[in-house]
Amino acid sequence: MIKLHDIRKNYRVDNVSVDVLKGIDLEVEQGDFVCILGTSGCGKSTLLNILGLLDEPSSGNYYLNGYNIAEKTNKEKAFIRRTECGFVFQNYNLITDLTVMDNIAVPLGYDGMKKKEREIRAMSLLSKLGMEDLAKKHPNHLSGGEQQRVAILRAISNNPKFLLADEPTGNLDNENTIVVLDLLKELNLEGMTIVMVTHDLEVAKYASRIIRIEDGIIANI
Ligand SMILES: Nc1ncnc2c1ncn2[C@@H]1O[C@H](COP(=O)(O)OP(=O)(O)OP(=O)(O)O)[C@@H](O)[C@H]1O
Ligand SMILES: [Mg+2]
Repeated sequence: MIKLHDIRKNYRVDNVSVDVLKGIDLEVEQGDFVCILGTSGCGKSTLLNILGLLDEPSSGNYYLNGYNIAEKTNKEKAFIRRTECGFVFQNYNLITDLTVMDNIAVPLGYDGMKKKEREIRAMSLLSKLGMEDLAKKHPNHLSGGEQQRVAILRAISNNPKFLLADEPTGNLDNENTIVVLDLLKELNLEGMTIVMVTHDLEVAKYASRIIRIEDGIIANI
């Protein structure tokens, strides 16, 4: 499903080039639940953003479902993002003008689902995490952990083929961490391919496979 070959990423800051990813080779099969583990600043979000077609590598090849992503136009990439990929941002990126329910329903609107249906689906997702009472609130009236769980529900609302989750439990207490990880596990058992990023080994253990990034490359475990 996902195949990365010699992916490199460097940033130029004040005329100095910083190599963040230094040759990542990675394959993720359909139905996998992979965790990318590594210390802060090692390039986890950079890699996940490339996987989610939100950023481009400086060099190397990314094949998704057999297609070379470098050959896709921006419009084609946007279509893939919308139809196949759910993304949980490390900083949530919820839309502040929309209620919780409407945030979760955003991806459902792409397929032209009717408003009433979208709301029913959003409420059923909220009930999975016992958060129905937050439906009409706006994100800036929620705690960080509540926003994080809403961001996860938004990412899964249209049943994406693959889910990319950047520190999805980074702001949650132990109890909610387990609730969210159980939900991810359930989605994976139903067939969703998941790539999750964390710096926490206990969280990583929920995945079927752990990949550690160290010094810009995949380290042997
Ligand atoms: N747009 C950018 N311009 C310059 N440097 C960047 C940019 N984005 C990331 N970096 C640098 O790349 C490195 C990796 O950043 P990244 O966000 O991928 O780390 P991370 O592993 O996700 O860290 P954390 O666990 O803290 O979220 C960092 O040193 C960061 O400063
Ligand atoms: Mg990060």
